[in-house]
Amino acid sequence: MQPIPSSDHDPRAASDASPAASPAAASVPQVAELIASARLDAARAALSAVAVPTPAIACAELAEAAGGPVALKAECLQRTGSFKLRGALAKVAALGDAASAGLIAASAGNHGRAVAMAARVRGIPCEVFMPGDAPVSKVAAVEQLGARVQLAGASVEEALALACERAAECGGALVHPFDDLDVIAGQGTVALELLEQVPDLARVVVPVGGGGLASGLGIALRRAGSPAQLIGVQARACAPYVEALRGRVADDSELAAGATIADGVAIKRPGALTLPLLRELLDDLHTVSEEEIADAMVFLAEQVKLVAEGAGAIAVAALLSGRIEPVSGVTVAIVSGGNVDAGLLAALLRRHETEEGRRVRIFTRVADRPGGLAELLGVVASVRANLVTLEHVREAVPLRVRETGVELTLETRGPSHTEELLAALRDGGYEARME
Ligand SMILES: Cc1ncc(COP(=O)(O)O)c(C=O)c1O
Repeated sequence: MQPIPSSDHDPRAASDASPAASPAAASVPQVAELIASARLDAARAALSAVAVPTPAIACAELAEAAGGPVALKAECLQRTGSFKLRGALAKVAALGDAASAGLIAASAGNHGRAVAMAARVRGIPCEVFMPGDAPVSKVAAVEQLGARVQLAGASVEEALALACERAAECGGALVHPFDDLDVIAGQGTVALELLEQVPDLARVVVPVGGGGLASGLGIALRRAGSPAQLIGVQARACAPYVEALRGRVADDSELAAGATIADGVAIKRPGALTLPLLRELLDDLHTVSEEEIADAMVFLAEQVKLVAEGAGAIAVAALLSGRIEPVSGVTVAIVSGGNVDAGLLAALLRRHETEEGRRVRIFTRVADRPGGLAELLGVVASVRANLVTLEHVREAVPLRVRETGVELTLETRGPSHTEELLAALRDGGYEARME
C-alpha cells in the first residue's frame, strides 16, 4: 500500500485495518506508550466549538437487568448523530496544515458523516468511500454536508483500501475510522465527560467495531485512575475481537459476511493499534444476537425515548440480556449513535407490537350486501380496537353464496383486549380467526 498522509507524528497512526497484514503492525508502539501519548486535552479542545457534551441519562428501566443503577451516555444526541464527530474533529485539529488538501474517509456511514462535518467546519473538500450497501439515510447525510460519496466495495475494509489508494493519489489526508491515536483520543473525550457526570462510575459498557471508541474510553479511564471496568460488546454476526483477544486473528476467508443490523460495528478485522490497546484495557467482551439488538432498539425508543441505530444499541442489548455480572456503583451504557433508517425502526416497532400481541390480523366473513361491512366495523369500534388496514378476500377462501372474506389488521391493547374483540365478534355472529 502507498504511504498515506497522516498526522505529524507518524508512529501514532496505523495505516491499515488488518494488523496481521499491515506494515504498520510492525511499528506499533508499546501499549503503555500509546496510552500515555494519546492527546486527550488537545482532543477536548478541538471539540469545544463544534461537538456538544452529551447527557448521561439515568435509566431506571435497566436497573434490574443490570443489577444496579444505569445511566445511558446519549451519543445519539451528538451532532451528526454519533460519537464519531469527536474523533474526526480531534484528527483534523491534529493534522493542522496537512489537512489543507482535503480529507478522505472510508465508513459505514457515521464516520463519513463526522469527517464531512469536520471538513465543512474547516472549509476543505472531503471524499467518503462507503460500502455499496450502506444505509440510504447515511449516504444522504454525508452528501448533504457537501462531501463526495463513492459507493464502492462490499465492506468497510474494502472501502478503506480504496480510500487509502485515493489519498495517496490526490494528496488528501486519510482519516482512519478507528486505528489512529488522534481519532482514539477524540473518542476518549466521551469518558472525560462521564468522569464529570457520573461520580460513582463503576463500569462502562461500550460498543466495539474497530475498537476506537472503546480504546479511547479505556485510555481516558486509565489515565484518570478510575477504577471503572470497561466491558466491550460486539454484534455476534461480526465479532472478530472474540478470537483476536485470544491471540487469534482469523483469515478473511473465515469471517462471516457480517450481515448485522448494527452496520456501524460491522468491522471484520481489529486494528493494529486498537487490538493491543483493547487487549490491555478491556475487562470483558460480550456478544449480542440480532434479536437482542433489535429488542434493545425498541426498548430505547419505547421506554427511554431515544432513537438508537443497531450499533448504538448493542451495549444496552448486553445489559438487557442479563449476562453481565452486577457491580456496585453506576453502570454506564454508551448509546453510541442514532442514525437509523426511519423505515427500519418503524418496522422493528411494528414487529414488536405484533410480538406483544398489540397488532393482530383477523380473518372473518361478512354478508356481501350494502351495510355488511359497516356492521362488522361497528363491532370492532364497540370494543375500541383500532383498524389499521382492511382487505376484501374473495379468492381461495371458503365462502358461502353472497359472502365476502375480510382480513383486518388491528391495533389492540394486548392479548386480553384481542380476546375481548374476538368474543365480541363471535357474539355478533361472526366466525373470526386470528391469522
Ligand atoms: C454508532 C456506532 N457505534 C459504535 C461504533 C464502533 O466504533 P469503533 O469502530 O470505534 O469501535 C461505530 C463505528 O462506526 C458506530 O458508528
